[in-house]
Amino acid sequence: MLQMWRLLLLCAVSLVATPAICWSADGREPIHVLVAYHSLSGYTEQMADAVAQGARAVPGTQVIIKRVGHVTAEELFAADAIVLGSPVYWSNMAAEVKKFIDDWQFKFGVFPEFKLKNKVGAAFVTGGQISSGKELTMLSILAAMLGNYMVVVSGGGAFGASATTEGTSPGVDEQELAAARELGGRVAEVAAAINTGFELQQRQTSGIRQ
Ligand SMILES: Cc1cc2nc3c(=O)[nH]c(=O)nc-3n(C[C@H](O)[C@H](O)[C@H](O)COP(=O)(O)O)c2cc1C
Repeated sequence: MLQMWRLLLLCAVSLVATPAICWSADGREPIHVLVAYHSLSGYTEQMADAVAQGARAVPGTQVIIKRVGHVTAEELFAADAIVLGSPVYWSNMAAEVKKFIDDWQFKFGVFPEFKLKNKVGAAFVTGGQISSGKELTMLSILAAMLGNYMVVVSGGGAFGASATTEGTSPGVDEQELAAARELGGRVAEVAAAINTGFELQQRQTSGIRQ
């Protein structure tokens, strides 16, 4: 009997809790931010965690954080914003990240409809050296996003957030993590503003038509 009461209580709690999970406090649909990254020795992963933390700090935001190879079509298309992170390899993105971007077409068929159009896009990287390709790498990620008609934003730095991980600046320090959090926060805020703008536009358009 006690078991049954426990079960009933659990059902009641889930019924009450579900809308809170699905909808933000002000009744709007949540903003979905996808943080996708590649990382071998863990530095870019640390930055990814901080980007996700920054995005989560914006009320009404839901974050999925995944390695690039594990992202599903559903997650990609449900995202309002995609933040992509890579280690710098020879002044460019890692092959795994490039493959993920190419898979937007090969696996997910984004063209010719431009299915990622108007999603917010941003980049973060880690590189061993202070000046050996971090900005180029972020720009090449952003260029691929621009080619997909995404709305590209920076934050935590002129082209995105970055960390130097070797030499005189080993690992990812607190300042670099703060830059990554800043990027995540800006991405979530801009995605929310864009969604609100489109919703308003839709309402106005349907109002004019009535
Ligand atoms: C094949 C290879 C190429 C690299 N090329 C660069 C480079 O051009 N510039 C740079 O700053 N760091 C370079 N690095 C260093 C990595 O970018 C750096 O260690 C990075 O923080 C590793 O990230 P992870 O810990 O997420 O794997 C290279 C590392 C490897 C393995």
